[in-house]
Amino acid sequence: MTIPFLKRSRIPADEQPRRTVQLFISKDAAAVGVGAHAVAAAFAHAAAASAISLQITRTGSRGLMWLEPLLEVEVAGVRHGLGPIAVEDVPGLLDAGLLGADAGKLANHAKWLGPIDKHPYLTRQTRLTFVRCGITDPLSLDAYRALGGYKGLERTLSLTSAGIVDEVNNSGLRGRGGGGFPTGIKWKAVHDAAGEQKYIVCNADEGDSGTFADRMLMEGDPFLLIEGMTIAGLAVGATKGFVYLRSEYPHAIAALKSAIAVARKAGLLGPDVAGSKRAFDLDLRIGAGAYVCGEEMALLESLEGKRGIVRAKPPLPAHKGLFGRPTVINNVLSFAAVPFILAEGAKAYADYGMGRSRGTMPIQLAGNIKHGGLFETAFGVTLGELVDNIGGGTASGRPIKAVQVGGPLGAYFPRALFDTPFDYEAFVGRDGLIGHGGVVVFDDTADMARQARFAFEFCAIESCGKCTPCRIGSTRGAETIGKIMAGEGPDDHLALVADLCNTMKFGSLCALGGFTPYPVMSALTHFPEDFRRTCLEAAE
Ligand SMILES: Cc1cc2nc3c(=O)[nH]c(=O)nc-3n(C[C@H](O)[C@H](O)[C@H](O)COP(=O)(O)O)c2cc1C
Ligand code: SF4
Repeated sequence: MTIPFLKRSRIPADEQPRRTVQLFISKDAAAVGVGAHAVAAAFAHAAAASAISLQITRTGSRGLMWLEPLLEVEVAGVRHGLGPIAVEDVPGLLDAGLLGADAGKLANHAKWLGPIDKHPYLTRQTRLTFVRCGITDPLSLDAYRALGGYKGLERTLSLTSAGIVDEVNNSGLRGRGGGGFPTGIKWKAVHDAAGEQKYIVCNADEGDSGTFADRMLMEGDPFLLIEGMTIAGLAVGATKGFVYLRSEYPHAIAALKSAIAVARKAGLLGPDVAGSKRAFDLDLRIGAGAYVCGEEMALLESLEGKRGIVRAKPPLPAHKGLFGRPTVINNVLSFAAVPFILAEGAKAYADYGMGRSRGTMPIQLAGNIKHGGLFETAFGVTLGELVDNIGGGTASGRPIKAVQVGGPLGAYFPRALFDTPFDYEAFVGRDGLIGHGGVVVFDDTADMARQARFAFEFCAIESCGKCTPCRIGSTRGAETIGKIMAGEGPDDHLALVADLCNTMKFGSLCALGGFTPYPVMSALTHFPEDFRRTCLEAAE
């Protein structure tokens, strides 16, 4: 890469370094998408041109997405942040003393953030799952171990399989993929199931709008997922695991592939896991990226090489899952929570949270929000705290109108419901869901009638077609909302939409059809004026 403006003469002689300067730049897809590779290359080029000893560690992301590409420079053992950095900023940073790693001089730079660990977005978090993400080289097993990695597996090897399941059960961990089903109960069912061959399947399809925590974790700390799945295998007696990933995640695919190879070479996967004489190994399977293939039964079909169509339950995957064998299927974040639980004990995890929502949730702030990113915190934080204080309101600077929580099947919450705590039951109590923890913000220019129509359209496009309420209902729903928007018999058509939603909610085979009514009905309930307004506009 040629960077013509970087010349040897730009670096003042008195800044020729006396030691190696340590820089850290994320290689997370979100950082790469806004130029992280180019920024890293510019620094490498500058260092080469000046014979400066520079070490650039490419990490995962810390999740402060509005600051990416985030540059961190280590000064006297403390990592100081600057961001967002563009290639054009590089010469100025060199002039400001970056390669001399002089914190005093750098503090005057416009992009200076100070010691990154002290950034309020990070100090307000409780990071149990994302504790290493953004800090270490994701493929360095040594770095993983140095920050507590594989302690969970170590303790696991001292427990019976039933003892491992008990730990997970007692932690109160619930599935982070959307359903919130207790993970320990699922594992116990597979543990107790008869069968020579059992499987562990990781659902890494991550199709929800506004979500990226699975991807960040697989790219930024892949050994954590490998460790969590290995513990699951030892708990239930499964020797083989699969990670089902979507093809839209090439960086995560590459990171996991490499990490699996490293773990295998280190004897942490394979016929004799960590010298335990017990086997567990992992493979990746890449899906084409259909939303419905995140639904566990459709995922299993796809994993078996068939069309991703939902299978009726029962039998549950715990009894008859992949290739008809007892199977644990969990989300990336569910598996990734397990090493902490095993290393620190169930109580240490269960001490966080509220009600029946125990531990922490990696919440993803997205959409029209000023400070979007990953925010891991104990359950209980209110929606208003998340979007107003932590997220800083909208990126557009306009008032927040609605927040959709839980992906495309989640409800739209108006400001009147911003006191809802992040808790499975609290959201259900207000006709919503927290799903995979995606929080998507809309400002006052959003038209909720359009959003309601979009919910039906999305369902129509993504429907697997197996059952009538979803396959036909979603198309009829989109048409009917279109009629309301066009001012055609709005009262009758609104009643028809409510009736249709009821049919879909109770008559659909899976949650794609069954939960599409949530965004539709919440838009109708909380923003009725938008449906009337579009009618009036149509009449004019
Ligand atoms: C349409 C649809 C899409 C889903 N997509 C995902 C997904 O991308 N990732 C995921 O973990 N769970 C997804 N789920 C939930 C899974 O069916 C299942 O509940 C989950 O993988 C179980 O893991 P957990 O208990 O760890 O949450 C989806 C469900 C539905 C109905
Ligand atoms: S609700 Fe939709 S996606 Fe689910 S089984 Fe029925 S047709 Fe398929």
